[in-house]
Amino acid sequence: MKTKVLMVCLGNICRSPLAEGILRHMTSAQDFYIDSAGTANYHTDAAPDPRSIAIAAQNNIDISHQQARQLTADDINTFDHILVMDEENLANTRALCTTNDQRQKIALITAASGVAASHVPDPYYGGDDGFAQVFELLHNCCRLWLAKHTP
Ligand code: 4NP
Repeated sequence: MKTKVLMVCLGNICRSPLAEGILRHMTSAQDFYIDSAGTANYHTDAAPDPRSIAIAAQNNIDISHQQARQLTADDINTFDHILVMDEENLANTRALCTTNDQRQKIALITAASGVAASHVPDPYYGGDDGFAQVFELLHNCCRLWLAKHTP
Protein backbone atom coordinates (compact mmCIF):
# COMPACT_ATOMS: atom_id res chain seq x y z
CA MET A 1 0.00 0.00 0.00
CA LYS A 2 1.21 3.49 -0.81
CA THR A 3 2.16 5.88 1.96
CA LYS A 4 0.08 9.02 1.46
CA VAL A 5 1.75 12.31 2.37
CA LEU A 6 0.11 15.75 2.22
CA MET A 7 2.24 18.92 2.41
CA VAL A 8 0.38 21.95 3.79
CA CYS A 9 1.12 25.70 3.83
CA LEU A 10 -1.03 28.83 3.70
CA GLY A 11 -1.50 29.58 0.00
CA ASN A 12 -0.33 26.29 -1.63
CA ILE A 13 1.72 28.30 -4.13
CA CYS A 14 5.17 28.72 -2.49
CA ARG A 15 6.26 26.22 0.19
CA SER A 16 4.00 23.16 -0.02
CA PRO A 17 4.27 22.81 -3.83
CA LEU A 18 8.06 22.74 -3.38
CA ALA A 19 7.78 20.19 -0.58
CA GLU A 20 5.49 18.05 -2.75
CA GLY A 21 7.87 18.22 -5.72
CA ILE A 22 10.98 17.49 -3.64
CA LEU A 23 9.51 14.49 -1.82
CA ARG A 24 8.11 13.11 -5.09
CA HIS A 25 11.55 13.49 -6.67
CA MET A 26 13.07 11.43 -3.82
CA THR A 27 10.49 8.62 -3.88
CA SER A 28 8.79 6.23 -6.29
CA ALA A 29 5.15 6.61 -7.33
CA GLN A 30 4.77 2.91 -6.54
CA ASP A 31 5.44 3.51 -2.86
CA PHE A 32 4.21 7.06 -2.25
CA TYR A 33 1.20 9.20 -3.10
CA ILE A 34 2.14 12.85 -2.47
CA ASP A 35 -0.02 15.96 -2.72
CA SER A 36 -0.17 19.48 -1.26
CA ALA A 37 -2.84 21.95 -0.16
CA GLY A 38 -3.23 25.36 1.45
CA THR A 39 -5.22 26.27 4.54
CA ALA A 40 -6.48 29.37 2.67
CA ASN A 41 -8.36 29.52 -0.63
CA TYR A 42 -6.70 32.69 -1.99
CA HIS A 43 -5.01 30.95 -4.91
CA THR A 44 -7.32 28.05 -5.80
CA ASP A 45 -6.40 26.54 -9.22
CA ALA A 46 -3.30 28.75 -9.57
CA ALA A 47 0.07 27.36 -10.61
CA PRO A 48 2.92 27.61 -8.08
CA ASP A 49 4.59 31.00 -7.61
CA PRO A 50 7.10 31.56 -10.49
CA ARG A 51 9.90 31.81 -7.90
CA SER A 52 9.07 28.32 -6.55
CA ILE A 53 8.88 26.95 -10.11
CA ALA A 54 12.30 28.54 -10.85
CA ILE A 55 14.18 27.25 -7.80
CA ALA A 56 12.72 23.78 -8.34
CA ALA A 57 13.73 23.85 -12.02
CA GLN A 58 17.28 24.87 -11.04
CA ASN A 59 17.33 21.63 -9.09
CA ASN A 60 15.86 19.54 -11.93
CA ILE A 61 12.41 19.30 -10.38
CA ASP A 62 9.36 20.31 -12.43
CA ILE A 63 6.49 21.63 -10.29
CA SER A 64 4.94 23.80 -13.04
CA HIS A 65 1.95 21.46 -13.57
CA GLN A 66 0.74 21.72 -9.95
CA GLN A 67 -2.52 23.54 -9.13
CA ALA A 68 -3.34 25.11 -5.78
CA ARG A 69 -6.25 23.80 -3.76
CA GLN A 70 -7.61 24.35 -0.28
CA LEU A 71 -7.16 21.78 2.46
CA THR A 72 -10.38 19.92 3.32
CA ALA A 73 -11.55 17.93 6.34
CA ASP A 74 -11.59 14.83 4.08
CA ASP A 75 -7.84 15.22 3.53
CA ILE A 76 -7.22 14.44 7.18
CA ASN A 77 -8.80 11.01 6.69
CA THR A 78 -7.26 10.33 3.28
CA PHE A 79 -3.61 10.99 4.13
CA ASP A 80 -1.32 9.07 6.50
CA HIS A 81 1.04 11.99 7.16
CA ILE A 82 0.14 15.67 7.00
CA LEU A 83 3.29 17.80 7.15
CA VAL A 84 2.74 21.51 7.77
CA MET A 85 5.19 24.39 7.34
CA ASP A 86 4.55 26.60 10.39
CA GLU A 87 2.61 26.98 13.63
CA GLU A 88 -0.25 28.85 11.96
CA ASN A 89 -0.71 26.01 9.45
CA LEU A 90 -0.56 23.57 12.37
CA ALA A 91 -3.35 25.35 14.26
CA ASN A 92 -5.54 25.71 11.16
CA THR A 93 -5.06 22.08 10.14
CA ARG A 94 -5.71 20.82 13.67
CA ALA A 95 -8.92 22.84 13.69
CA LEU A 96 -10.32 20.50 11.00
CA CYS A 97 -9.78 17.42 13.19
CA THR A 98 -12.45 15.74 15.28
CA THR A 99 -10.48 12.75 16.61
CA ASN A 100 -7.08 12.12 18.22
CA ASP A 101 -6.22 9.66 15.41
CA GLN A 102 -6.58 12.54 12.97
CA ARG A 103 -4.55 14.93 15.15
CA GLN A 104 -1.69 12.45 15.37
CA LYS A 105 -1.22 12.49 11.59
CA ILE A 106 -0.31 16.18 11.64
CA ALA A 107 3.20 17.47 12.34
CA LEU A 108 5.47 20.39 11.59
CA ILE A 109 7.71 19.15 8.79
CA THR A 110 10.72 20.56 10.66
CA ALA A 111 9.98 18.70 13.91
CA ALA A 112 9.01 15.50 12.09
CA SER A 113 12.33 15.45 10.24
CA GLY A 114 14.52 16.56 13.14
CA VAL A 115 16.13 19.63 11.53
CA ALA A 116 17.22 22.49 13.79
CA ALA A 117 14.79 25.03 12.28
CA SER A 118 11.49 25.56 14.11
CA HIS A 119 9.43 26.11 10.94
CA VAL A 120 9.64 26.79 7.19
CA PRO A 121 9.40 30.59 6.80
CA ASP A 122 6.89 32.08 4.37
CA PRO A 123 8.96 33.45 1.43
CA TYR A 124 6.01 35.10 -0.40
CA TYR A 125 6.79 38.74 0.45
CA GLY A 126 10.58 38.38 0.23
CA GLY A 127 13.15 37.98 -2.52
CA ASP A 128 14.58 35.10 -4.53
CA ASP A 129 17.10 34.17 -1.82
CA GLY A 130 14.21 33.39 0.53
CA PHE A 131 13.01 30.81 -1.99
CA ALA A 132 16.52 29.31 -2.27
CA GLN A 133 16.69 29.02 1.54
CA VAL A 134 13.24 27.44 1.67
CA PHE A 135 14.29 24.95 -1.03
CA GLU A 136 17.42 23.95 0.94
CA LEU A 137 15.46 23.60 4.18
CA LEU A 138 12.69 21.54 2.56
CA HIS A 139 15.24 19.36 0.77
CA ASN A 140 16.87 18.56 4.13
CA CYS A 141 13.49 18.00 5.77
CA CYS A 142 12.35 15.58 3.06
CA ARG A 143 15.64 13.64 3.07
CA LEU A 144 15.60 13.24 6.87
CA TRP A 145 11.86 12.55 7.05
CA LEU A 146 12.24 9.81 4.43
CA ALA A 147 15.11 8.22 6.34
CA LYS A 148 12.73 7.89 9.31
CA HIS A 149 9.81 6.58 7.25
CA THR A 150 11.42 4.16 4.81
CA PRO A 151 10.85 0.56 5.89
P1 4NP B 1 2.69 29.75 0.83
O1 4NP B 1 3.01 31.31 0.69
O2 4NP B 1 1.80 29.61 2.04
O3 4NP B 1 4.06 29.15 1.07
O4 4NP B 1 2.05 29.30 -0.45
C1 4NP B 1 2.02 32.28 0.58
C2 4NP B 1 1.38 32.50 -0.61
C3 4NP B 1 0.43 33.49 -0.72
C4 4NP B 1 0.11 34.27 0.37
C5 4NP B 1 0.74 34.04 1.59
C6 4NP B 1 1.69 33.04 1.68
N1 4NP B 1 -0.84 35.32 0.25
O5 4NP B 1 -1.04 36.06 1.23
O6 4NP B 1 -1.45 35.47 -0.82
